[in-house]
Amino acid sequence: MESAQEVKNRILEVFADKYGSKDGVRVFFAPGRVNLIGEHTDYNGGHVFPCALTIGTYGAVRMRDDRQLRFYSMNFEEKGVLTSSLDDMKPLEDKEWAAYPKGMIWAFGEKGYKVDKGFDLVLYGNIPNGSGLSSSASVEVLTGYFLRELYGFDGITNQDIALIGQYSENKYNGVNCGIMDQFAIAMGKKDNAIFLDTATLQYEYAPVVLRDAKLVIVCSNKKRGLGDSKYNERRAECEKALSEIREFLDVKTLGDLDEATFGKFESLIKDDVRVRRARHAVYENRRTVSAVEALKRGDIKVFGQLMNASHESLRDDYEVTGIELDTLVDAARKVPGVIGARMTGAGFGGCTVNIVKESSVDEFIKKVGEEYLNKIGYAADFYVVDIGDGPGEI
Ligand code: GLA
Repeated sequence: MESAQEVKNRILEVFADKYGSKDGVRVFFAPGRVNLIGEHTDYNGGHVFPCALTIGTYGAVRMRDDRQLRFYSMNFEEKGVLTSSLDDMKPLEDKEWAAYPKGMIWAFGEKGYKVDKGFDLVLYGNIPNGSGLSSSASVEVLTGYFLRELYGFDGITNQDIALIGQYSENKYNGVNCGIMDQFAIAMGKKDNAIFLDTATLQYEYAPVVLRDAKLVIVCSNKKRGLGDSKYNERRAECEKALSEIREFLDVKTLGDLDEATFGKFESLIKDDVRVRRARHAVYENRRTVSAVEALKRGDIKVFGQLMNASHESLRDDYEVTGIELDTLVDAARKVPGVIGARMTGAGFGGCTVNIVKESSVDEFIKKVGEEYLNKIGYAADFYVVDIGDGPGEI
């Protein structure tokens, strides 16, 4: 993989080419993320266990003296330089990729941090787009980070950037996501995953020690966007199920319930589909707590079993996997040396995350790759990944 310094040099050249010179330009990085376990729990007051990756988004940026904004992405060269202005920030209107940085400027303003001068920006990301590794949250956190550094918003913490990122995603881009992605990215720590209670935002870093195993991400290459997925629908189903339970039981979120209590009260939910959605939220939360305990005592085997159970629940109860992700997981399970395999992120396409014995990685890539191509008709991509730090300047 290209080093950060190499990317920096390359992106600065593009900056000079697009905007005339590279004088005074600063370069920042924000990672992508993968969630190890705790899926579709973050808007249900449950726990998640994601980590930041060493792949992510780079941004070269320079402030302007006027209110103009210029955006160029090396990943969408065909779109050229997109132009806008600080006076033209309308939520839910812009469908270009620049809606993510613009959403952050808007959200900063809503939170009392007025950005009063424009900037020129060049972006380059090495996260596969639409892969479910949070390329959009990465752009949001990157923007929040450079806004703080460039415009002197000193009081803002990385956690604040995550919250503003979620706010902009919800209100500017219209996706009702939870806090997991922006938090994992803004708070990332090398070789650690973040055990986050989304109800309280209390968190703890847990070292991911896999000994003789590797983290392998498989990208299904089935494209999806959260906006046109059933993401918001799942969220609404869970909210409705919770409101039905709350008619008789005083709980704030589905994450407050354990399995036994849920069993006692599930008949309050008046529709079988909603029972299954809520059951996933409750059980997945409990699995996440158990998985982190297993990891802490060095029991990777149990961690892997819980990952497998997570996938089954996402497939059968939450129904967000689909043929592509199920094929990848089924094929993975047949390879000896696979400790755990599950879909990661929102689902409906995107990626799987796998813990694979180092000695089996080549066989894994070959066997899973072949089976996927045969059944689905196009290829999957494989990434052996490392857990990296949160955002920073390069
Ligand atoms: C997306 C959302 C997150 C989370 C996951 C599912 O990545 O952005 O907030 O809900 O889906 O766990």
